[in-house]
Amino acid sequence: MQQDNANRQSDDMHTRIADALSKISICTRSVAQYGRSHPIIDEMVGNAHQAVAQLLVIQPTLAIAAGESYLALESFPIEDGSGTLTAFAETLHARKVTELRLISGITPAELIDFAEILSLSPENLAIRGGISSEMTRRQISHIQTFSGVLPTESREAKDPADIYEESIMLVEQAMKAVESGLQIPVPEIRAVVAESLHSLIKDDSALLALTGIRSYDHYLSEHSVNVCILSMVLSKDLGLDAASTLELGISALLHDVGKVFVNPDIVRKPGKLTEEEWQQIRRHPAEGARALAGLPDLPALASTIALEHHVRSDGSGYPAVSMTHRPHLLSRLVAIVDTYDALTTERPYRERWTAQQAIAWMLYEAPGQYDRQLMARFAARARLYPLGSLVRLKKGDYAVVVAGSNAHPKQPTVRIITSADLPKDAPIEIDLFTNTDPAFEIDSIAQPVEVLLPYADRLVAV
Ligand SMILES: [Fe+2]
Ligand SMILES: [Fe+2]
Repeated sequence: MQQDNANRQSDDMHTRIADALSKISICTRSVAQYGRSHPIIDEMVGNAHQAVAQLLVIQPTLAIAAGESYLALESFPIEDGSGTLTAFAETLHARKVTELRLISGITPAELIDFAEILSLSPENLAIRGGISSEMTRRQISHIQTFSGVLPTESREAKDPADIYEESIMLVEQAMKAVESGLQIPVPEIRAVVAESLHSLIKDDSALLALTGIRSYDHYLSEHSVNVCILSMVLSKDLGLDAASTLELGISALLHDVGKVFVNPDIVRKPGKLTEEEWQQIRRHPAEGARALAGLPDLPALASTIALEHHVRSDGSGYPAVSMTHRPHLLSRLVAIVDTYDALTTERPYRERWTAQQAIAWMLYEAPGQYDRQLMARFAARARLYPLGSLVRLKKGDYAVVVAGSNAHPKQPTVRIITSADLPKDAPIEIDLFTNTDPAFEIDSIAQPVEVLLPYADRLVAV
């Protein structure tokens, strides 16, 4: 089944690449025919750019091999129904291009320039020093061409640990920039979040594991990167498209930039905050939103999320908003993963909670603060009750979770392991979703040692 899915995804990718390359090829032909300033060119370039940019969200670099009369991706020829790709391959081949690379950040202007270069005859290009030097002369950096033997450098995606490190570095740079009124490195942030997303789409386990490792020194930047990763994972689960998920990731990474204006001693203070200190904390959403508003290339969502990530669905939280104001869906999503990440991190004023404790608190102790549907999806993903976890039921029995469902994360199937009224060695399984007896409801997550408590006397005797 997994193999089938992988094949389907790769077929889909080939179809989309074929479509994007056809559009580039049509642009190239049209620029050669009508010249770059003809009104028809804008629309064609717009179509080609949109198709390519969408692909580069999923895969930040596309390396297309160009044969004499075919194009190939990772050694597989790209199917060409209309003959457009064959013609494009021949155009590239005649100009000695053996590989074409399209890189995230590509602009419509670069596409027009590239099309114009390809409209030059091979002889004319040779006089100008070849296609690569013409591309460099026109400062095209997101389209690259290689000639001769295919480049041997690795085309593999970056190591998730490197992506994580780079994200930490960039968020720290962004915070320094906000503090000193300098420019936030938006293109670099966009590129690294796209790498994260690409890595998550392929396999989310490595990056998710990294969100669980904490070091006290870099709390704020690690927290920001974790919120970025967790937001994108939840967005992917909800079925949001790659472009929206990327915008969300960028915004989530910057959600706490307003904290640079909070005195670090307050953030690290172990004791209770004074009213004045608390007020400083409550200002960080508005400060962050102000710093991010209207920045070129940054999604408008970034400012919205910075402002709304501490607003709660029941009207609590900050800044104070009218009861009729409903925060943006993605602000409500970030509010959930933000709280979850904060609770599962050790802070000077409290110990680190387990994932299950954090989810249980958000579901049971703070009901109404978080979007119910999003919370259910998140609980399912974070596995409120992972398989094998030990729970205490309301009637006092202990049970092990043996099955669960995404639709009902609070009601898994459990197997009772200790019970006052069940005969010894008679494990029974109960599906808590269909079971209506409140005595069997889950009361709390249990620690393994608790299960031994009823037998304490006997254990001591041994
Ligand atoms: Fe915050
Ligand atoms: Fe936060």
